[in-house]
Amino acid sequence: MSTYDELIERAASEILNSKNTVALTGAGISVESGIATFRGAGGLWEKYDPEEYAHIAKLRSNPERAWILFKEMIETIRKGEPNPAHVALAKLEDMGLLSVIITQNVDNLHQDAGSKHVIEFHGNTLNLSCMECGKKYLASEISLDEIPPLCACNGVLRPDAVLFGEAIPFDELVESRKAAETCDLMLVIGTTALVQPAASMPLIAAENGAKIIEINPEESALTYIADIFIKGRSARVLSDILRKVEEKVG
Ligand code: OAD
Repeated sequence: MSTYDELIERAASEILNSKNTVALTGAGISVESGIATFRGAGGLWEKYDPEEYAHIAKLRSNPERAWILFKEMIETIRKGEPNPAHVALAKLEDMGLLSVIITQNVDNLHQDAGSKHVIEFHGNTLNLSCMECGKKYLASEISLDEIPPLCACNGVLRPDAVLFGEAIPFDELVESRKAAETCDLMLVIGTTALVQPAASMPLIAAENGAKIIEINPEESALTYIADIFIKGRSARVLSDILRKVEEKVG
């Protein structure tokens, strides 16, 4: 069995040898920014049943209740800042070593860290739109003292995140599939890989010959396809990989 340092060394070499590296990120990468995951102990779905709070049908029938969850998410996300894992991915992109991040997260932290090419597979909670007239707002310009927040036309606002019962936005799905099909290395970071179709992206990549490097403190549903599994928190692991890559580049 390889030691942690050997795995970091191998991951750095794979990134440097790859012609097209793509990352798939999940809630775990934002844990060290103070944002809870969805599943597991302390996860959001332990506190809020997603079928009751995060389903499009329930948002329509009971917006007051759905907005208890959205308000908590928006307030937590707005306090969060990018952590060293987000920063490491942004640096790899800057160095020409990472082409795109497919993120399941709705917290904008990859962009805040400086990543330029980010596919928001599940949308972004900090953008709101009116369910009646479609007018767009930033969450930062809307008071959440009273929920649900309303549009100037009196329609209920919603976050532009993909809710249960909704499809993945078409362009994001097509772009992600293309990235998965064409990459030769995929970094899978901080996801249980239980939600489809996001969890299919590493399978598509592997079927097309890409190597998979997974970073997670726990095994996921996709660990069995990982060529390299680095057990650990993403802030430390990605910082160590970046340092090793920088050392090798000189
Ligand atoms: P989950 O909450 O399912 O999984 C979080 C993962 O992060 C787990 O595998 C943890 O082991 C891992 N983790 C925890 N701490 C970590 C750390 N410090 N560093 C790295 N990893 C860590 O989150 P997702 O897989 O992202 O969808 O969930 C996928 C989708 O399910 C979400 O996008 C959301 C949810 O329903 C929608 O809201 C549409």
